[in-house]
Amino acid sequence: MVIKNVNLEIVCGVTSKVPDTAYAEVAFAGKSNVGKSSLINALMNRKALARTSAQPGKTQTINFYNINDAMYLVDLPGYGYAKASEEVKAKWGKMIENYLHTSKQLKAVFLLIDIRHDPSANDRMMYEWMVYQGFAPIIIATKLDKIKRSQIQKNVKAIREGLNVQPGTMIIPFSAETKQGRDEIWELIDSFVLP
Ligand code: GTP
Ligand code: MG
Repeated sequence: MVIKNVNLEIVCGVTSKVPDTAYAEVAFAGKSNVGKSSLINALMNRKALARTSAQPGKTQTINFYNINDAMYLVDLPGYGYAKASEEVKAKWGKMIENYLHTSKQLKAVFLLIDIRHDPSANDRMMYEWMVYQGFAPIIIATKLDKIKRSQIQKNVKAIREGLNVQPGTMIIPFSAETKQGRDEIWELIDSFVLP
């Protein structure tokens, strides 16, 4: 996709209904601080349209970024933010699940995992739930710039095994710093949304 215009068109809070949009959607899920909003900025060639933060729990709404009046990139709140209250955690979890369950335009789901760490119990739960819902999540291994080149294969394998992914599942290493992996991710998105 050649980016011509982007804007944050819909912001969906805990109590909002999942919107009926006119275009295909692809969504980005993953635990707090894994780099969802940073990835979306990189995909849009914007530095800070999607708000990011070193503090986990930055994105607390479901944000729909309209791309070229052709599709939406959907930024989801992070799960597993330890400092949030149980009540808030449950609300965000419900909100994410409700969106993934209800959206009629959702064409693909990306699950982000920090390339430095083994998947957590929450990551496994989210992955299994997505598969159960009929999605074939694509895994993005984020913060690629934080490890040595020689560690990439081993860490990708640890994610593959830690999530016990379905055969054929893609795991794409990505860095929001260097933009490595960006073109590959766009190619995939195009394959899901272009007619
Ligand atoms: P929540 O909205 O809290 O769920 O977090 P998020 O998943 O949207 O993460 P966000 O994009 O806000 O990034 C969290 C922190 O990680 C920020 O300080 C980013 O600058 C940093 N970060 C994200 N991606 C990368 C990356 O590829 N490399 C490096 N070095 N830092 C990154
Ligand atoms: Mg965010």
